[in-house]
Amino acid sequence: MRKKIVAGNWKMNKTLQEGIELAKEVNNKVKEADIKNVTVVIGTPFIHLAEINKIVDPNFIAVSAQNCATEASGAYTGEVSAAMVASTGSKYVILGHSERRSYYGENDAILVKKVERALENQLEVIFCVGEVLAEREANKHFEVVKSQLVNGLFSLPAEQFAHIVIAYEPVWAIGTGKTATSTQAEEMHNFIRKTVAEKYGQAVADNTSILYGGSCNAKNADELFSQPNVDGGLIGGASLKADDFMAIINARQNH
Ligand code: 13P
Repeated sequence: MRKKIVAGNWKMNKTLQEGIELAKEVNNKVKEADIKNVTVVIGTPFIHLAEINKIVDPNFIAVSAQNCATEASGAYTGEVSAAMVASTGSKYVILGHSERRSYYGENDAILVKKVERALENQLEVIFCVGEVLAEREANKHFEVVKSQLVNGLFSLPAEQFAHIVIAYEPVWAIGTGKTATSTQAEEMHNFIRKTVAEKYGQAVADNTSILYGGSCNAKNADELFSQPNVDGGLIGGASLKADDFMAIINARQNH
């Protein structure tokens, strides 16, 4: 059975002190609601990871980085390795986010290396895919997402692919308040699962969690999570307020 996951991506928000406060609030709310059948993840800036791992109850919340280095260690000033991320107690890393692809030039070859480093360090990878608006308008969205999957992930052997969570984040829906309709989300998630099945077989595909991201909020989460192939969400803006994030977790729990 694949996991239901609600993951927050804080992006470059919250000072350490603000982050600690938010993590405490989320932790308390998730424990109070006794959320058991949803894996709740919070994706914080690197420097928050060690502190926040000390605060949250690992039975209820997993902590994620938002990136890691392509290399294992050495003279790479300013980089943070997957081993360092794992050493903070973090269990996940978000890789291939469209903001990293477009602002920091992360291409398939770079992402293959980052995924390898993450898996070598026993991190679970939340791997983001998604098309820009022009690609959707040109009816190329399936082709684009397939190419991101094939070139970023499909060199992995099946036993490693089991540690991949896929997040479909249409770039035109990120931070825009414009969400994909549940029909559009389901159509793409179904396509992603089919594509995974063609490569790794139906059993692996059925065990792969596929999250939706892009202006997912307390109001639309319920409708999105009602779709059979939408296993959860990768939440940006709405993960920065404990009540909003909690409402999304509850929506996932209730389906
Ligand atoms: P928003 O929820 O702010 O649109 O961001 C989505 C996202 O990019 C999560 O990774």
